[in-house]
Amino acid sequence: MDSRTIRFIRRGRPVVLGNVPPDRTLLEVLREDLGATGTKEGCGEGDCGACTVVVGEPDGERLRFRAVNSCIRLAHSIDGLALWTVEDLAAADGTLHPAQQALLDSHGSQCGFCTPGFVMSLFGMYQNHVVPGEPVTRALAQEELSGNLCRCTGYRPILDAAQRMGELPRVAVDEGQVLAQLRDLRRAGDEAATYLAPDTLAGLLAARAAHPEAQVVAGCTDVGLWVTKQHRRFAQVLDVTRARELLRIEDYPQHLAIGAAVSLTDAFAALVAERPQLKTFASRFAGLPVRNAGTLGGNVANGSPIGDSMPLLIALGAQLVLMKQGGHRQLPLESFHTGYRANVLAPNELVAWILVPRPREGEFLRAYKISKRFDDDISAVCLVVRLELEDGRVARIGIGAGGVAATPVRATNTEAFLAGQPWTADTARQAAQVLRAEFQPISDMRASAAYRSEVLGNLLQRFWLESQGAASINLEQFQLQEAAA
Ligand code: FES
Ligand code: FES
Repeated sequence: MDSRTIRFIRRGRPVVLGNVPPDRTLLEVLREDLGATGTKEGCGEGDCGACTVVVGEPDGERLRFRAVNSCIRLAHSIDGLALWTVEDLAAADGTLHPAQQALLDSHGSQCGFCTPGFVMSLFGMYQNHVVPGEPVTRALAQEELSGNLCRCTGYRPILDAAQRMGELPRVAVDEGQVLAQLRDLRRAGDEAATYLAPDTLAGLLAARAAHPEAQVVAGCTDVGLWVTKQHRRFAQVLDVTRARELLRIEDYPQHLAIGAAVSLTDAFAALVAERPQLKTFASRFAGLPVRNAGTLGGNVANGSPIGDSMPLLIALGAQLVLMKQGGHRQLPLESFHTGYRANVLAPNELVAWILVPRPREGEFLRAYKISKRFDDDISAVCLVVRLELEDGRVARIGIGAGGVAATPVRATNTEAFLAGQPWTADTARQAAQVLRAEFQPISDMRASAAYRSEVLGNLLQRFWLESQGAASINLEQFQLQEAAA
């Protein structure tokens, strides 16, 4: 089979690449095929941000900009999109873009590995958030740069640059022109052979049925690592993220229906809009470039025991809709995973929707993530608890946990223990013991088994304290600016 041609817009012109294998990464294409070596490879696994580029995609009459990690992005996934790398920002006469100039002015330009990635995250932030005359907060700057690590720890001047770039003369992307070029690209598109990316749900299900052996990707933020770290090869890839029905978030009286191809950025935005207490938890899911590329459906289907969305969805009582040609079925999320990275999907099925119940009056919800680093890290333990009381007793309880078993899990023993109990300090203490005994976690580089069990119970105790109005003492309330003052 021939590889599908990739077409995208860069520097105001179409780029056409033929015979690109379906599992070749965007970073490989940039550096090795196009000689665009300004984009760097640091970790090769979506952690450090050295490889950050910005993609632009049509969103109605606007262009939507997203910073993404090119190291774990398959090159074919940018077919039909616009792309900016660090080489594409300065004007033809060499005038630097405000993202670059502000970094220079703030003495934030440090080593050559991290700086291109920081520049690109700044560029994405500039396009999405910088409005002339409106200051950029430190909190926003931190969030937008959460996917970029600097090993020499020179963050302060970089954050300064993020706040200062809006003060420089405005440089605008001609969105109308790029959108017109993207429309022309789409008209010229051909049919996929080895990289299948149908733009309708019907097409996607047909492709799944016809090519059950194709590697499914839904953002590729984990499958990308199979390519870069395990050197696995895929003869054929099925990309679900172009199916327009699965890109929607639909409002229903009892639940939100989140399409499986909705990015983590957008899915969390919808969840946080209904449950603002999840904001910090959402912003600590990997870094922004990973949230921009990764999808909620991908996180669920991938089923990593340390994927943070699933403890939350389990605690909220989410259901999954699995679809195949001519049929669908619905099941609770905790019934989906059958073992380490194993699930109930048939070869012709896909995760299509995640149904998340709306908040109920009186609901008390907290989501805890324990990791070695506050930003851009993987959980050692994750615990999410949702509680409803009636007359001082536990009427409904949902407890989802991650990092303590081979799959994300519901703490059914602890829930059963708590059901109907008076919500008292004694009950919480005993429940914490039940929870510690409920799972047999493993020891690994993130934490020992004993630590994980201990902390799981401690988090339930903390939940009790917070349910009583105790002010939480945690890093969420720590501001870099206060430390610098
Ligand atoms: Fe580190 Fe891509 S090289 S995130
Ligand atoms: Fe590269 Fe700090 S900028 S280590």
